[in-house]
Amino acid sequence: TDNIVIAIDGYSSCGKSTLAKALAKKLHYIYIDTGAMYRAVTLYLKRNHIDLADENQIKESLKNIHLNFHSRDYQTHIILNDEEVSDEIRKMDVSQMVSEVSTIKAVRKELVKQQQRMGRSKNIVMDGRDIGTIVFPDAPIKIFMTADPKIRAERRYKELMEKGEDITLEEVFENIAHRDFIDTTRLESPLTRAHDAIILDNTELNEEEQLQFVLDRVEQHI
Ligand code: C5P
Repeated sequence: TDNIVIAIDGYSSCGKSTLAKALAKKLHYIYIDTGAMYRAVTLYLKRNHIDLADENQIKESLKNIHLNFHSRDYQTHIILNDEEVSDEIRKMDVSQMVSEVSTIKAVRKELVKQQQRMGRSKNIVMDGRDIGTIVFPDAPIKIFMTADPKIRAERRYKELMEKGEDITLEEVFENIAHRDFIDTTRLESPLTRAHDAIILDNTELNEEEQLQFVLDRVEQHI
């Protein structure tokens, strides 16, 4: 097929989803937030007190997890077995557990399969940690995002404060550092830049500048 996949990977809280949404809106592509999928699985496992070390329990759970997206107004509305969990999955308790869940081979295998299916025939912008390396290694446009860890923590802290979460800047910084550590060092498809991904460090770029940076690449490609 000749559909286009834009793959956006990078560290936690780098603004991947903000950029991906803006791109999808501008290009009329479908936006897929793979982090939301790992978060929804985490929420399910947490609620059902599943032992993360028990492979059989995990596999059984995966059979009972049905994920769906509603892409109303380019926001991520993720449905876990008929329940919208979009807000629930952003909370700190899920953030603290999600990277551990993301190291589990059976979980990755299932979610990657679903992600590949979603991008098979449509133009999509997909963000995550392994999109350019594992999910769509042939994607024509790959972006690897990074930014100063302090700036990332401040941005995420501001977001969580606005949502009324009771949290300190230090806790947010620690969580981001913790997730980056697990994500980059895990055995199963660790976060790493695909050899053909373009680095986008947005420490000093606003949203408009980041969007233009990628649109320029898309134009060169088409
Ligand atoms: O993108 P977001 O920060 O919401 O992702 C939450 C977590 O899910 C990440 O810290 C990472 O552990 C995991 N993840 C992953 N692979 C992806 C997307 C997310 O391992 N493609």
